[in-house]
Amino acid sequence: MATTEYLPPLRQDTQNTQDYAGFSVAPLTGGLGAEVSGLDLSQGLSGDQLDEVRRALLNHLVLVFRDQELDADQLIALGHAFGDLHVNPFVAGLPDHPEVMEIKSEENETARFAGRWHSDITWEARPSLGSLLHARTIPPYGGDTLFANMYLAWEALSPTMRRMLDGLYGEHTAFQGHGRAAAFADAPELVIHPVARTHPETGRKALFVNEYFTCGIQGMTRDESQPLLDFLFRHLQRPEFTVRVRWTPHALVFWDNRCTQHYAANDYPGDPRLMWRVTINGDKPY
Ligand code: SIN
Repeated sequence: MATTEYLPPLRQDTQNTQDYAGFSVAPLTGGLGAEVSGLDLSQGLSGDQLDEVRRALLNHLVLVFRDQELDADQLIALGHAFGDLHVNPFVAGLPDHPEVMEIKSEENETARFAGRWHSDITWEARPSLGSLLHARTIPPYGGDTLFANMYLAWEALSPTMRRMLDGLYGEHTAFQGHGRAAAFADAPELVIHPVARTHPETGRKALFVNEYFTCGIQGMTRDESQPLLDFLFRHLQRPEFTVRVRWTPHALVFWDNRCTQHYAANDYPGDPRLMWRVTINGDKPY
């Protein structure tokens, strides 16, 4: 039996890709992501450059900057230029810079910060606008980060499925992803966000449930919601929606958490990997 595919044209906005003041942008896949060259982020960004980086982020959702030597203060200043920074109660920050979260896999450590698609801190009432991830120590190969475009994931659902999901709210909790420890008693138990949120800057709808933190759909039993969520979690990883970023020393990746999800590949057993992340606070989704 033939099935109908509701796949939108899989091409990010590639118009004027070289046309940014002071830097150039080369798209990485038809789905999302671009490499930016011509900027030295350690010098900070002028007002015009900030506007242009924001525009590039809205167009490409994930920006990769190579060879950026940044210390913690410079990384914080860069993140802060885009908004207030989040301090994560579950993952320790640097002792003198709590906004800089360490994503660390020690040599020969088996537990890894990896392996589930998500958007950052959706367990907060105001989840993140975007995150900056800076490579400090990387394995010789492996440990890539994959990103998926949640506009395309939403638009590729059938009109009937979108009609059914529109107006529903997903239930999110940190405890599903991070476990339950007494020290985190202050974290919100459960927050709700639209299953499809509207991006506050582009006005485009994006799928906003993730397998790390979304544990249900408001008003549904678990038996009802879980098959639906499982379908969406599978659907949003379609290769056509994704890009895979290979890390190089001192690379920095800036992504928009409002319309993407990411996944850290756990394929570097035995090797150390250390990344620094700053997470920019965002708005209440609608
Ligand atoms: C994250 O989830 O922010 C970490 C991604 C990574 O370590 O590649």
